[in-house]
Amino acid sequence: MEKFLIHGGRPLHGRIAVSGAKNAALPAMAAALLTGEPVRLENVPRVRDIRTMARLLGTIGAEVDAAGGRHTIRCGEIRSPEAPYELVKTMRASSLVLGPLVARAGRARVSLPGGCAIGARPINLHLQGLEKLGARIRQEHGYIEAEAPNGLRGGEVRFERITVTGTEDLLMAAVLAEGDTVLENAAREPEVADLAALLVRMGARIEGAGTGTIRVHGVARLAGATHAIIPDRIEAGTFLLAGAITGGELAITGARADHLAALIDRLREAGAEIKVGEDIEVHGAGRLASVDVTTEEFPGFATDLQAQWMALMTQAHGASTITETIFENRFMHALELARMGADIVIEGRQAVVRGKTPLSGAGVIASDLRASASLVLAGLVAADETVVDRVYHIDRGYEKIEEKLSAVGARIRRVG
Ligand code: EPZ
Repeated sequence: MEKFLIHGGRPLHGRIAVSGAKNAALPAMAAALLTGEPVRLENVPRVRDIRTMARLLGTIGAEVDAAGGRHTIRCGEIRSPEAPYELVKTMRASSLVLGPLVARAGRARVSLPGGCAIGARPINLHLQGLEKLGARIRQEHGYIEAEAPNGLRGGEVRFERITVTGTEDLLMAAVLAEGDTVLENAAREPEVADLAALLVRMGARIEGAGTGTIRVHGVARLAGATHAIIPDRIEAGTFLLAGAITGGELAITGARADHLAALIDRLREAGAEIKVGEDIEVHGAGRLASVDVTTEEFPGFATDLQAQWMALMTQAHGASTITETIFENRFMHALELARMGADIVIEGRQAVVRGKTPLSGAGVIASDLRASASLVLAGLVAADETVVDRVYHIDRGYEKIEEKLSAVGARIRRVG
């Protein structure tokens, strides 16, 4: 299994370019199932989850041509409207094909995802929404079978709680449904708005994406389109934190500050200097102050940056609390950070971090994508060598992170 070897203690200096957003590219790829014409996506990150989605689309009947960050996806015919367990168990976002398959083929068979390292993560809200649009849902042999032989019809869906991929799934179902659909308590994440922008280019009629109420007027068919994926705000945020934790100076290019406002505010409170221009520049503070954060849906502080923030707080002076409200089990990294010398106490959904504690290099194990990023950040300031095991987690969502970090002065390498 591949590992990262990191020698900490060097401030990072230079420029890092951000890749396209994994969590925007995944639904965009699924949206290509809604038409028989080619959908061209640009700025697709070269990460493992994207390759998994390409394989899934291939088993369904799409041709996927990937050249660098450009993907051309053409699904002339849905051969098998199914997401098999083998793929869903490695990537929960596979459930994003559910909405498009029912909308286009009138049926879908999608494996239930099973357990997850960060929380239960059911897809009941996707299913309740599809039922509101007229789909019949049954569960058998670990699979969800959804059917709408006469097509979906518009309806009103009020999500009990905000779900990002649930909103995306329903949006993709609603664009081909007959009549009007209203999605209430919809996710406001930039990735939802980016999906809607692609769908509109394909001929869909959507209003309000990016707000809590999305209105869709169904159309009979969609066409091909070309669309560039938005920059990855979580990758950009991780690099801002890398600059801050090492006390370095980094310019992040190609990121959107309006997608990172909550993080930028907290970083400034902690004492880091952030300049927003064409690039987002971070100048690490000599002395970091402790700042409390609570994860929330967008535009709040992203749960996908919580682990990396925790690494930063181990280097801040004083006690800070981190409250995780989105997932019930997303503190696995705390135990690993503690092995490196951090003082972290977990009580339910809250972590209390007391700093500043010197970190010392240790062997640590990545438990999920963002947890691994937090261990890399900790490794960048730890004394001596940190070995981060199971880096396949980080490869799911960060494009060549070790190369990007090495280019700005980090001593990090991958070993097989
Ligand atoms: C998306 O996951 C992201 N994944 C996650 O990114 C991110 O952490 C999460 O949104 C929250 O921002 C993609 O976009 C591919 P949710 P998603 O449905 O859509 C509960 C990363 O590291 N819920 O918004 O699966 C759920 O259990 C990741 O890139 C239900 O109860 O998350 C959770 O507690 C991991 N029933 C909360 O809602 C449902 O049917 C929010 O989950 C759906 C969700």
